[in-house]
Amino acid sequence: MVGTRGHLSGHPYNHYIKAMKKVASGFSPLVALDRRSGKPLHRQIYEAFCAAIVRGNIRAAQKVPSSRALALELKVSRIPVLTAYSQLLAEGYFESRSGSGTFVTSSLPDQPISLGQRDVGLRKVHSRRRVISKASALLPGFKPLPWLNRWGAFIVGQLALEHFPFRVWASLVNRHVRNMRINSLHYSDPMGSESFRGSIAQYLRTARAVNCEASQIMVVSGSQQALELTARVLLDPGDEVLFEEPGYRLARNVFALAGCCLVPVPVDAEGMDVVTGIKKSPRARAAFVTPSHQFPLGVTMSASRRLELLEWARRSTSWIIEDDYDNEYRYEAMPVASLQGLDSESRVIYIGTFSKTLFPSLRVGYVVIPPDLIERFLSVRNTMDVCPPHLYQVVLEDFIREGHLARHIRRTRLLYSERRNMLVEAVRNELGTSVELLGADAGVHIVTTLPKGLCDRPVAEAAARQDLWLWPLSSCYFGKRARQGLILGFGSTTPQQIPGAVRRLRDVIEGR
Ligand SMILES: Cc1ncc(COP(=O)(O)O)c(C=O)c1O
Repeated sequence: MVGTRGHLSGHPYNHYIKAMKKVASGFSPLVALDRRSGKPLHRQIYEAFCAAIVRGNIRAAQKVPSSRALALELKVSRIPVLTAYSQLLAEGYFESRSGSGTFVTSSLPDQPISLGQRDVGLRKVHSRRRVISKASALLPGFKPLPWLNRWGAFIVGQLALEHFPFRVWASLVNRHVRNMRINSLHYSDPMGSESFRGSIAQYLRTARAVNCEASQIMVVSGSQQALELTARVLLDPGDEVLFEEPGYRLARNVFALAGCCLVPVPVDAEGMDVVTGIKKSPRARAAFVTPSHQFPLGVTMSASRRLELLEWARRSTSWIIEDDYDNEYRYEAMPVASLQGLDSESRVIYIGTFSKTLFPSLRVGYVVIPPDLIERFLSVRNTMDVCPPHLYQVVLEDFIREGHLARHIRRTRLLYSERRNMLVEAVRNELGTSVELLGADAGVHIVTTLPKGLCDRPVAEAAARQDLWLWPLSSCYFGKRARQGLILGFGSTTPQQIPGAVRRLRDVIEGR
């Protein structure tokens, strides 16, 4: 189910929030009984609940433990608990619902009734500047920019999720939930399930010409964790990293958080300009690239640039981090082979994800690790989140093995190709030669330049007011000289939406 207009205000992730509020149930609040005090036990229990409600530690409609459970927990007989509960019921702090148990009254305000001294204390603390890590302070704030994480035409990074094979997926999830064994609940291999890694390796060798065995594949929580792990294993604070300009903001943040110095390297029609990069940073320890489909400009790195980059890594004993995020979607030609497949020196760390082919909340991706680094990746991974969760690995393994992934990719490739054709045609019809389209051969977004003299941020802000959630191209630049343009996502923009959305975009542009 996609969100409606009503979801578009406030927090950027509002469209995930259900209309019905759910309240956690049945946990016991802290009741510190003092058996030596002269105060009766039922009074102490009563006061503990009153205080927890007044402070907001337990809230409206929250379930309270049964009298039997609380008595067991407090190691007292049920009598004082029952006495306290009947008083709380009588005074309206609690209400009982037949068959469901006892709850804090739902008519209490959502916010704590009074924070008293604690509130004053908190306000004092928050008004002072407090020392936090320099690295975290380097990251841009997590602000709800008008064009991020909304739902509607041109949203970047979203997919045709209404075409997701929900029934097949649900039946595989059910199959594995029904067959859950004790083994599935234990900590497991930090690399991920061996058989799942086998199916990923087979896919990567076949479809992406990646040079790999299952033993080199680590299952991670999306490309984002892959990047984080890679930076921790390979780089130290102060290390210089060649970074595509414009480039992928979330990757940039990972290297910034690791304390690395980012060196923006221009991207032209052949991808990252390697020679310029080497000149700007002769000591760079790594290069981050999206060679199959550069984000966001959409160019494919030429063969000569690939060889230059590999040669640089060999000579300078540096690393190449290849993010191959959406290569399954190419419309004009066959998918291009991975850069990793050309590497004879094991200098490329290859990263992929199921966020584009399946769905982003799945949080499953993978890293192909050079054999001699596996042990280091394992140690770091084990320190970060120990191991990947079990359930979606076994579900995905069946999804791949039974051919559903290949089918889904074929089906969505046709669908996205139709959306892309419509979008390109509509932009050409409505905006003519005043703009240039970039990167239309692949992926689920295109870039359009703007008529001379227009800045992209005000255009994106005005477009957002028309329910058009495109990104300003300049937001992907790190340096000061940003090219102005718009990134138009078409993954979740339906054929019915495209003509009207492009007309509204034309009006926004012409109105500036
Ligand atoms: C360049 C790039 N890499 C990777 C991803 C996917 O990231 P993840 O696997 O963390 O969802 C995206 C998503 O939009 C992307 O644009």
